[in-house]
Amino acid sequence: EFIKACGAQVVIGLGGGSSMDVAKMSAAMTANPGTVADYWGVDRLPRRGLPVIAIPTTAGTSSEISPAAVFIDPETQAKRGVNTSLLLPAVAILDPELTLGLPPHLTAFTGMDALTHAIEAYTSPRASLLTDGTAERGIRLIGEFLRRAYARGQDLEARTGMLAGCFFAGMALAEVNVGAVHGLAQALGGCFRVGHGLANALFLPYVMAFNRIACREKYARVASLLGEPVEGLSLDDASEMGVEAVRRLTQDLGIPQHLREIGVPRELLDAVAKSCIETQQRVLLNNARSVTLEQARAILEEAW
Ligand SMILES: [Fe+2]
Repeated sequence: EFIKACGAQVVIGLGGGSSMDVAKMSAAMTANPGTVADYWGVDRLPRRGLPVIAIPTTAGTSSEISPAAVFIDPETQAKRGVNTSLLLPAVAILDPELTLGLPPHLTAFTGMDALTHAIEAYTSPRASLLTDGTAERGIRLIGEFLRRAYARGQDLEARTGMLAGCFFAGMALAEVNVGAVHGLAQALGGCFRVGHGLANALFLPYVMAFNRIACREKYARVASLLGEPVEGLSLDDASEMGVEAVRRLTQDLGIPQHLREIGVPRELLDAVAKSCIETQQRVLLNNARSVTLEQARAILEEAW
């Protein structure tokens, strides 16, 4: 209503993923009736709204180049998305200087979100030669620069590398979508208040260990992209090295390694597993390995 009242011709989204998602959705609502809740799901928004200029101040969500906007559904408290190419920003401005002030823990959480996008897209059954190229470039850049950006926020080269890595990860994400890490993170987010990046970072090594038998070649490549010496190793050992490289990265970044460390009660795990299977099928179908309710519960138990 405010955007309409002031006669705006463009909406600028400046900030992290949530800020940009609000800008994208508000701009869209200027041309569509009803409320956001009328458009949950894929391709349900009929008309394009005002153009959006998206300017990220984190290197993580890739909302600036994504066709999705994610919100908490006030009715169910679950995270839900509006997905349509009509939400794509008209312009994305990637300026690393705007990310210099991001504190270390948010640098870690958002950077791990970007790495999760790249790895989940890379190992998705929908991956293609095109998305493999962008995902690999994203994984390599994030592996090269995330520790540095975390260790010294003013490192402009590292911040530039992270924005570029996030951009490539987002290109793969937009084509392929994410998998079980995001499925579990979104389900957990609906039952327990935890940030998207932290939840993904915590789940990523556990889901990778679970997925490994489905994508050993790709995980061996992940190890190599993250700088591990895989030459001469068996596929089994090299793929395990990929999982371990990601786990070590999360440890270096001070990411909590267990759900109990962030206060998730063990009694909640059944509900999270159930919600994951019931509400996250769209991303679970994209996961490298099929996930049953029992398996989701087992991954959560491991992570707890
Ligand atoms: Fe994400």
